[in-house]
Amino acid sequence: MLLDTYDLTDPGFWARDDAYPILDEIRREGAVQRHESAAEGPLWAVLTHREALAVLGDAGSFSSLGGSLLGTGHGPPAGSGRMMALSDPPRHRAYREPVVPFFSARRAAVLEERVRELTERVVERLLVHEKIDFVRDVGAVVPLTVMCDLMGIPDDDRDEIVDMCDQAFLGRNPAERRAAHQRLLPYLLQLAMERREEPGDDIISALATRLELDEVVLNCDNIIVGGIQTVRHTAAMAMLELIRHPDAWRELGEKADPGLATDELLRWTSVGLHVLRTATTDVELAGQRIRAGDRVVVWTPGANRDAAVFEEPHRLDLARRPNRHIAFGWGEHYCIGGPLARTELRVLFTTLSTLVAEVEPLGAFEYNQSIINFGLDSFPVRLHRR
Ligand code: HEM
Repeated sequence: MLLDTYDLTDPGFWARDDAYPILDEIRREGAVQRHESAAEGPLWAVLTHREALAVLGDAGSFSSLGGSLLGTGHGPPAGSGRMMALSDPPRHRAYREPVVPFFSARRAAVLEERVRELTERVVERLLVHEKIDFVRDVGAVVPLTVMCDLMGIPDDDRDEIVDMCDQAFLGRNPAERRAAHQRLLPYLLQLAMERREEPGDDIISALATRLELDEVVLNCDNIIVGGIQTVRHTAAMAMLELIRHPDAWRELGEKADPGLATDELLRWTSVGLHVLRTATTDVELAGQRIRAGDRVVVWTPGANRDAAVFEEPHRLDLARRPNRHIAFGWGEHYCIGGPLARTELRVLFTTLSTLVAEVEPLGAFEYNQSIINFGLDSFPVRLHRR
């Protein structure tokens, strides 16, 4: 079996030029396969769209309590059962429902003007520089600012929060990243205590008036973590692909429907490479007998390049329709920030294609070492004005 040779949990696999042809061959050997990962031990790999929906759509048989991502060790992770991503129904709804109104498609439409104004400001500012890093300078500034708006972070604290979040994600080493994260949590706790007394129209207040304080902090952290790295890496990986596909970059500036184009870039990049679940009961999936307690990994690129669902899956088709990708997951835990992320990315690529004639890569880029948010460590480029 090819999964004896190739380890999907090794980020190096996804950096290979031939990762997708190999993935196709692996998928041909079975929709669901036993996989012995060097780092993670025995896992089930789910590689097809149909089986991915079967797992993600059945939170009763496939639990999130044991973790929703690999790489956090064995056994229930910290926060298990007390935050949105790491809980099962019915408790899950207590964490999700209070914040649903902040992430509705209607709210995203209202936020669009603000996102556009911020994005244009960022791109205009970067156009005067000879060299920028697309990962640091472009993709996260707007999501972070919008997040501060939604959380009701006071204006005076914003620079510090932006700095903390940047350090927490892009700090030079794990200790620096951990230290920044440790500064963020007490800050959120302080705000949660204040908002409990004097609630406003923001996410922290919505949670603080309904949940225990530690749950408020965990869930705010979940939303911040969920909302920043994903958008940043999708933006950078999508830009890299548009440089590799000059026809698509031209199409984006001329006739592409920005909404369809954004979904195709989400499918194509699939930066959230996997979603983890733990079986709660013995269950059969694509002819395999999965036992209660087994860990099951849905490989997003496997589903998103599945020829049974996507015609010519290895063609970047900015007009693809329908596009039933699962870059935002599926089912109970479907990404709550999906409408907002779509808006942020759509506005970013519309703005870039309007203001920028060419994005010129400057030197080498490196893939990061993450199967949680697969992307680039840095991506030096110069933006040339249109
Ligand atoms: C391109 C951007 C994004 C991608 C690719 C992405 C991907 C995902 C995926 C695959 C899931 C499902 C996880 C699971 O089933 O266990 C998810 C859930 C989640 N995402 Fe996103 N996400 C993005 C943007 C955002 C944004 C902008 C926010 C918030 C502002 C956000 C917050 C969350 C939260 C809180 C969850 C947990 C939902 C739940 O458990 O009910 N994400 N995301």
